[in-house]
Formats: sequence, structure tokens, C-alpha cells
Amino acid sequence: MSARAAVLVSGGGTNLQALIDAAGRGEMPDCQLALVVSNVRGAYALERARRAGIESRLCLREKGESRESFEARLLDILALHQVDMLILAGFMTILSADFVRRYPDRIINVHPSLIPSFCGKGFYGLKVHQAALDYGVKVTGATVHLVNEVPDGGRILLQKAVAVEPGDTPEILQRRVMEQAEWKLLPQAAQMIAKELSI
Ligand code: GAR
Repeated sequence: MSARAAVLVSGGGTNLQALIDAAGRGEMPDCQLALVVSNVRGAYALERARRAGIESRLCLREKGESRESFEARLLDILALHQVDMLILAGFMTILSADFVRRYPDRIINVHPSLIPSFCGKGFYGLKVHQAALDYGVKVTGATVHLVNEVPDGGRILLQKAVAVEPGDTPEILQRRVMEQAEWKLLPQAAQMIAKELSI
């Protein structure tokens, strides 16, 4: 039986699309994309899920709501859909240690740098690429790692280097890192973890 994965998203969902496309090509035989959960209303990732025929749910953190309460509602949604593993694909919320413990070695995240560079609290999305350009590195990349209680701190599963080119803006660099690294690594890592769970 293949592992049932929930993909957690907050934005455009190009990494979700990479997962959908890889699954369509038969590259994730042990991983079923069972559910997409967004914590942002109107995230384009939800439209991608709809087009692919994947069930989706919105789980918003209400104004003033505690993290515990938000995570309890998220856990309920995941349990209802009998999810075995989680794929964080541009999910812009840090999960608590208590939450992470519920899915030990079953949550993966894609981060747009070569960890341990430009990672941790405050490093997300374009800020990561801006920091890489500000520092002046000539090589950056992407990392897929297991998620534990330390932001971007879990065991590294896959990494791929990507060149920084003269004249890069954060947007141009982000796109190159996605195309050359993120969209390839995330489906590979999802399949790796799903295969272990399906044995
Ligand atoms: C991706 O570049 C992903 O690596 C990054 O946000 C972008 C989401 O794009 N994630 C983080 O920065 C997490 N710390 P997407 O919605 O098009 O997949």
C-alpha cells in the first residue's frame, strides 16, 4: 500500500505542482498525494490541487488563536484523512515540537538554500535568496530535510547546488533554484520516505 501524504502549502504551490507532475509521470509509486492543506486563504496552490483532483482544506490561524489550538485543528484534519506523512511545500509556519512528535521522521520540508547556510527562523521565500545575494555567495541551492523541533534543523535527505549568476535578483535566483533543484529534489525525497513507510 502506498503512503498517504498531505502537502502543506501557503502560496503559489510550484513545489506542489512538481509533486503532482512527478506523480503523473509515475515517479512516486509509493506516495499518494491524498490531501493539500493551506493556511492561507486564496493560495494559488489550492487551485492547483483542485485541477489535479486532490482534496484540499483550508486551516487558518485565527486572529489571537494560540498555536496549540491551530495545530490541534490541523492534526484533526490530518487524522480525518488518515495521512501517513507530511510534505511541507512552501508552508510558512513553524510547527511546534509537540506537533512534530506526532509524525516522527515523517515530515519533510524543502528549503531554498544549502543548509546550514541562510536557514532558521526568519529565512523563508525571497528573504533567503536576498540574504545569499547580500552575502555574495557564488553557489547556493536547495535542501530537503526531515522536520524536527529545530527550524530547518532536521536530518538532511537531499541537497543540490545551483550557481549564482552576475546580475541575479532574488526573484531570478529563486526561479533558478526552484527549476534546477527544488522541483527535482522534493518528489525524490517524498518517494524515499514513502517507500520506507510502505515496506
Ligand atoms: C519555495 O522556494 C520554498 O523552498 C520556500 O518557499 C517557496 C515556496 O514556493 N520555502 C521556504 O522558504 C521555507 N523556509 P511554492 O509555493 O511555489 O512552492
